[in-house]
Amino acid sequence: MSVSTKTPEEIEKMRVAGRLAAEQLEMIARYVEPGITTGELDRICHDYTLNHQNAIPAPLNYRGFPKSICTSVNHVVCHGIPSDKKKLKNGDIINIDVTVIKDAYHGDTSQTFLVGKCNVLAERLVRVAQECLYKGIEMVKPGIRLGDIGHLIQSHAEKNNFSVVREYCGHGIGREFHEDPQVLHYGTPGTGLILEPGMTFTIEPMINAGKRYVKLLPDDWTVVTKDHKLTAQWEHTLVVTDDGFEILTLRSDEPADICKYQEADRQN
Ligand code: MF3
Ligand code: CO
Ligand code: CO
Repeated sequence: MSVSTKTPEEIEKMRVAGRLAAEQLEMIARYVEPGITTGELDRICHDYTLNHQNAIPAPLNYRGFPKSICTSVNHVVCHGIPSDKKKLKNGDIINIDVTVIKDAYHGDTSQTFLVGKCNVLAERLVRVAQECLYKGIEMVKPGIRLGDIGHLIQSHAEKNNFSVVREYCGHGIGREFHEDPQVLHYGTPGTGLILEPGMTFTIEPMINAGKRYVKLLPDDWTVVTKDHKLTAQWEHTLVVTDDGFEILTLRSDEPADICKYQEADRQN
């Protein structure tokens, strides 16, 4: 396994790609309403990436993936394929995962949206999944090990009686969509890769309301929970800095506390 560190010039390009990916989620947020289809969401993002951002939607044709974003509704864990037949309804939750390529570098981020008014379980699952992401991010600094991050994410999920998907994980990112290392969302403290400044990777925990087991549908992309219970995911792309992290896909709607860590880091 070879894990690269990026040069300052590469990190600047990843900042640009990351910002475009974040802006795309901000853009699509207002369209997420009961009645819209995931096919329509895909077309809006596709056009925005190409025509407004002068960027490339990375998922399109990636290993044969047929669309420009992933849309994963309710019990779909990840890699849901947008479709004109899939209409959102009140009470659904949907993860929208966008990845853009700009100037040869990737920015990868996702968010789970509540559609209309959701039940208490859905709201709690979506919130805890976001907390899992933030707890993982806040650990990131040189010297910390990937097992420390995975362990914290797993502990927070299980403390809330939820489970962590093990078959899919975060990943290094840069010129390639998926680079080393694999970033597991479970694990043992004091084990795994030691982080160094300049490493760029995603954290993207998939948190299930029921058991952790998943199943791949015959389309060879769509991953669902085996028990068909709800699942939620959030993702950011980050870079390890000299004394912490910088979130390359930060949105303006994110809570003040994560922005505070980010600010403190950038002032150094
Ligand atoms: N964006 C996903 C990730 O976070 C990968 C999607 S691969 C695709 O790694 F082909 F389904 F787009
Ligand atoms: Co990713
Ligand atoms: Co993604």
